[in-house]
Amino acid sequence: MTRLTSIRFTENKLEIVNQLLLPHTTEFVEINSIEQAHDAIKSMKIRGAPAIASLASLALVLHLSRSLDLSPVPEYLISPTALESHIKPILDFLYTARPTAVNLGAATRRLSKTLQSSIAAGSNARTIADDLIREGRLIADEDENRNKEMSKWGGDWLIEESKRCGKTGGGLNVLTVCNTGSLATSGYGTALGLITYLHENYKLGKAYYTQTAPYHQGSRLTALELQTLQIPSVMICDTMVGSLFQNHKIHAVGKEFFAWSQTKLTFVEAVGADRVAKNGDTANKIGTYNAAVLAARHKIPFIVVAPVSTVDLDIADGSSIPIEYRPPLEACLVRGALYPPSFDSQGNKELAQVMITPSDLDGIYNPSFDVTPAELISAIVTEKGVAVKKDGETVFDLSGIV
Ligand code: MRU
Repeated sequence: MTRLTSIRFTENKLEIVNQLLLPHTTEFVEINSIEQAHDAIKSMKIRGAPAIASLASLALVLHLSRSLDLSPVPEYLISPTALESHIKPILDFLYTARPTAVNLGAATRRLSKTLQSSIAAGSNARTIADDLIREGRLIADEDENRNKEMSKWGGDWLIEESKRCGKTGGGLNVLTVCNTGSLATSGYGTALGLITYLHENYKLGKAYYTQTAPYHQGSRLTALELQTLQIPSVMICDTMVGSLFQNHKIHAVGKEFFAWSQTKLTFVEAVGADRVAKNGDTANKIGTYNAAVLAARHKIPFIVVAPVSTVDLDIADGSSIPIEYRPPLEACLVRGALYPPSFDSQGNKELAQVMITPSDLDGIYNPSFDVTPAELISAIVTEKGVAVKKDGETVFDLSGIV
């Protein structure tokens, strides 16, 4: 099955797909420096919590591999102390590219730990650089497999749950927001991975996805991924979630949220995450909270699918999760291709960015993420399994899964 890809790294050439141009133009952009990686993450040429962590790690890998090939070697490769003073600011700088997704910080912390252990082991600068290269590659490479694992955990669990609820025939419908597929990760995806898994096992009815304004990760990226994977799907505007739930024949799932065992399970909502606090409160793309409130109202299970590295045990609850505010102008603009289409001399569709508001608006509120309280979340699925709340609890205890 063809899949889209967000990062290509072969023979010391690092490239990303410029996601700002998707779905109309597939343009690979070379990343040749730490600054370019930082800029690509900040400007959202690459986005999605796991993908930005992978790019940051690979940018360091590229930097070190190229440095090792230089003759004479640069001064920072002459001693462990010099290398430490060189690497630390790079990791600190990469960490500042975007604040909400914990994966970026988890990756830079992991690389920093590798640096410290290699120094403590008495390695020379070259060996330390090799250790960092190995770890950086691992961070990017391990993502796809763990996505497959969490998708299987979540998918099998949902299939069992729906059997337990007496569902026979017909697949599960799954609503998702934002983009959590192979463009947002190193491959397969988290919530979109779960949808793919259900589809591959003939258990998916349809995938529904919100457009996800103002950046339209849903209508630009999830739409393209689902189309490429040939998964039956329906796009809805962000404002239509309530209407979808009201008008779809959804079987109520019991008085207690999550206690859908007495009824038929036909619809679930599955989203990714940028940071999950210790109690399960989850930061994800703006609009996720709205969709979660509506899911609760309609007694639809709401599931978070994310790697263990997205769980931040240092944060007790969602109130301390740092929320990124994007530049106000971004909420006034829409990107896309001209319609009716027109083509440049190379035959490429002409792209445009149009302003949909009066210029110079005074007040614009543009948070990039919101926090869904644990109370509204039925389950948190990671590569280690499915976490649910204990009976009568409104929060999760995630301390055991990290
Ligand atoms: O601002 P973005 O596009 O980087 O936000 C992405 C999301 O919110 C995703 O849902 C999240 O990172 C999970 S991606 C597997």
